[in-house]
Amino acid sequence: MSQVRVHLVAAARPNFMKVAPLWHALHAALDFVPTLIHTGQHYDRGMSDAICADLGLPPPAHHLGIGSGSHAEQTGGVLIAYEKIALAERPDWLVVVGDVNSTAACALAAAKLRIPIVHLEAGLRSGDRDMPEEINRLVTDALSDVFWTPSPDADANLVAEGIAPDRITRVGNIMIDSFEMVREEVEACGHHDVIGLGKKAYGVVTLHRPSNVDDPDQLARLVEALLAIQARLPLIFSVHPRTVSRLAAAGLLGRLEQAGVRLLEPVSYIRFMNLVMNAAAVITDSGGIQEETTYLGIPCFTLRENTERPITISEGTNRLADAATLVRDFGAVLAGPPPAGRRPDRWDGMTAGRCVDDLRARRGAPLRRK
Ligand code: UD1
Repeated sequence: MSQVRVHLVAAARPNFMKVAPLWHALHAALDFVPTLIHTGQHYDRGMSDAICADLGLPPPAHHLGIGSGSHAEQTGGVLIAYEKIALAERPDWLVVVGDVNSTAACALAAAKLRIPIVHLEAGLRSGDRDMPEEINRLVTDALSDVFWTPSPDADANLVAEGIAPDRITRVGNIMIDSFEMVREEVEACGHHDVIGLGKKAYGVVTLHRPSNVDDPDQLARLVEALLAIQARLPLIFSVHPRTVSRLAAAGLLGRLEQAGVRLLEPVSYIRFMNLVMNAAAVITDSGGIQEETTYLGIPCFTLRENTERPITISEGTNRLADAATLVRDFGAVLAGPPPAGRRPDRWDGMTAGRCVDDLRARRGAPLRRK
């Protein structure tokens, strides 16, 4: 039997943790040939190469070099560049992950070439189209043939949108596979010690959503809240490139530094997870960090009005927060008992294996026609 050729697309920081376990699982299976495609949406070492190296990803077979730009520029650039590769190689499957611009762009190119598409992390919905990622999720799921979901809410969202249940497989959360793959290195790396902070003696902060960092007033309110928290618990702030420039433009970078907030450039996956797993609590607007903290049982404050990952609230340790409530709620959680959360079903480090089994079972299955 001929080998099944699978294109795997990675683009931005949160994608690498989703692609790596699947790449390794497909590479190890004799009946599959995975081809890694990096769109280049993220290109800084800390945002891309260092994370790929931590996760043992090989250099991509194709690097599209798209880089930064407006949404249309990024999406259009990937659409044009990926179509050429898809036409030349005609893979048996395209697997896209998550909800970044490159995810929707590759799905659109492949759908018109009638290349079967699997969406890994399908079905998540915030119900908020002000977030560009929600548009990307809707577009990608409208075009995909097979839906690999992390949670029952995602299954229900897809069914409500008219997706036939036999196209949906709840594979679990593949980010947990990445964590378990390198857990020993994460535990051994001691990055919090390097920074000079003991276990559970600090909080971790990440912020990059346009809704939080592009509006100077909102950014200033959040910085005030962080400064109030820093007065009680040291904070380590891993600063996204977009956020550095917004903080600098608003004159806020110096205030954080003077107050003693540890500002870090984006760090590799292993170092970052070492910081998270030893933190007393995490403040973020990321998608993936809501899930990682739920898995690790670490209190998480998500600075957003909604989340497409509601299971991290209903079962995990996540809660929504804003600049007005953060300081009070953060204090209350630190003073209270350890958070009571549980790991959602199939967040167990074995998701990539379920993906490979599902792809095998779907060999020769028909494309979606409507
Ligand atoms: C993108 C994703 C977002 C994801 C985030 C993780 C979309 C719509 N957004 O947002 O869902 O949560 O990645 O980080 O796809 N920059 C660099 N170096 C890099 C990458 C970016 O300096 O390697 C700077 C550039 O100034 C760029 C800005 O960061 O303009 C934003 O990057 P971009 O890829 O447009 O979006 P993110 O905010 O990273």
